[in-house]
Amino acid sequence: MFFDSHAHLDDDKFNRDRAQVIGAMEGAGISLIANIGDDLETSRKSLVLAKKYPFIYAVVGIHPHHVEKLTESDMNELALLAEEDKVVAIGEIGLDYYYDNSPRDLQKKWFKRQIELAMELDMPIAVHNRDSNADCMEILKKFDIRKIGGIMHCYSGSVQMAKEVVSMGMYISMAGPVTFKNNRRGIEVACEIPLENLLIETDSPYLSPEPVRGTRNDSRNVRYVAEKIAEIKGISVEEVAKQTMENAKNVYRIK
Ligand code: NI
Repeated sequence: MFFDSHAHLDDDKFNRDRAQVIGAMEGAGISLIANIGDDLETSRKSLVLAKKYPFIYAVVGIHPHHVEKLTESDMNELALLAEEDKVVAIGEIGLDYYYDNSPRDLQKKWFKRQIELAMELDMPIAVHNRDSNADCMEILKKFDIRKIGGIMHCYSGSVQMAKEVVSMGMYISMAGPVTFKNNRRGIEVACEIPLENLLIETDSPYLSPEPVRGTRNDSRNVRYVAEKIAEIKGISVEEVAKQTMENAKNVYRIK
C-alpha cells in the first residue's frame, strides 16, 4: 500500500469526478494521501476533504505564488486551520524564483513567517523550492528544523544539497520527474539518498509520471514513482512502498 505524500485533489481539474477518483484509491493500493493547500481557500478545501475521507490528511499553508497580499490576520486564520485534528503539516510554503509570481522579498518574508508558525504550533513543514536553492537553504538553516521535521517536496536539486537537507532532519520527496527520460540528477538523488530519507508523491493533478505523462495526474500514479525508485535502487516495489509509508507517517506524525 502506498502513501501519496503530496497531492492537490481539491484542484478544479477534479471538479467533474473527484468522488469517483478518490473512491478508486483503495482498490489501487493507495491507503493514505496528504492533500496540500497553497492558499487559504485551498487549505480550507483540503481540510474538507480530510474530514470527509478517513485516509486523507490535510496540509495547510500559503505557496510563494500567493504571498503578495498576505497579512498577519491571514496567519491567524492559518493557525486556526492548522489546529484542526486532521491537519498534519504547514505547507506548501517556500520560494519560487522560476515563476516569480510574488516579489522575492515577500516570498522570503512569508516563508520565514510560516516556518515560525510551524515552530510555534510544533508541526512539520512541506517546502516548495524552485530555482531558489541558495535562499531556501539559508532560510531553513536559520531554524532548528529537526525539532519539527519537514519535507522538500518534488525535489529537483543536487545530491549534495539533498544530503544537507537530510542532515537537517528533513525528508526528500520524489515526484513524477524521477521517471522522466534523461533526468540524470533525479536518478542520482534516488540512488544516493537512503530509502529511510525518501518520500514518494504525485503533486497531482500536475507532473504525471511516465508512462502516463501529459495526462491529468492523480494519487494512483504514485506507484510509478515507487517502481522507478525500486528499479534505481535494485529493490522491490513493496520495500519502497513500506519504507516510504513509514517515513511519511513519521514526518506527518500519523499513527
Ligand atoms: Ni504541490
